[in-house]
Amino acid sequence: MNNIAIFASGTGSNFEAIHKAIIDHKLQANLCVVICDQPQALVVQKANKRNIPVFSFQVKDYKNKKEYETNIVQILQQYHIDLIVLAGYMRLIGPTILKQYPRRIINIHPSLLPQFKGLDAVGQAMNAGVTTTGVTIHYVDEGMDTGEIIDQQSLDISLCDTREEIEFHIHEIEHKLYPKVIQKVLEELQ
Ligand code: GRF
Repeated sequence: MNNIAIFASGTGSNFEAIHKAIIDHKLQANLCVVICDQPQALVVQKANKRNIPVFSFQVKDYKNKKEYETNIVQILQQYHIDLIVLAGYMRLIGPTILKQYPRRIINIHPSLLPQFKGLDAVGQAMNAGVTTTGVTIHYVDEGMDTGEIIDQQSLDISLCDTREEIEFHIHEIEHKLYPKVIQKVLEELQ
């Protein structure tokens, strides 16, 4: 019970961190496949470079979201995926995938949920003037960043001057925390 799929839309730094944790034997998982909704995303090149199969799908090529997700489910079933790991996947997971993978989809979000759900959580934190933000890993349900929280880590941003600085520290936390939490979730699936 340790076949994982990563869903991503962008840079893929979390993909790299998870892949490295597996290579370093810190995470006992088979990273079977990357699903991406942006064919030009950097994560596609990163997966190719590491010989991880990557499938790019664009919603606009399908009649509707149900057909798009049905195609993804077919791929996940081919690889016998046990856990879906969202890492910067910029789309809500719909019922077609959710019903096939109950409590088997997790997401990482750059805030201390329930604060600052949705897009640009770092910008939201900066605008709100908070001195502490952080990272949350949670199960995925039909809502936007609303599923049960699995783990969180806070970050003091009172001394950070720029968005880049905050994002740098957020990523540092994410890259350590996500592999650890994936390991724990996989163990609980056994
Ligand atoms: C991360 O900050 C994650 O919290 C959010 O999207 C970002 C993805 O970054 N959901 P990357 O593509 O893994 O570098």
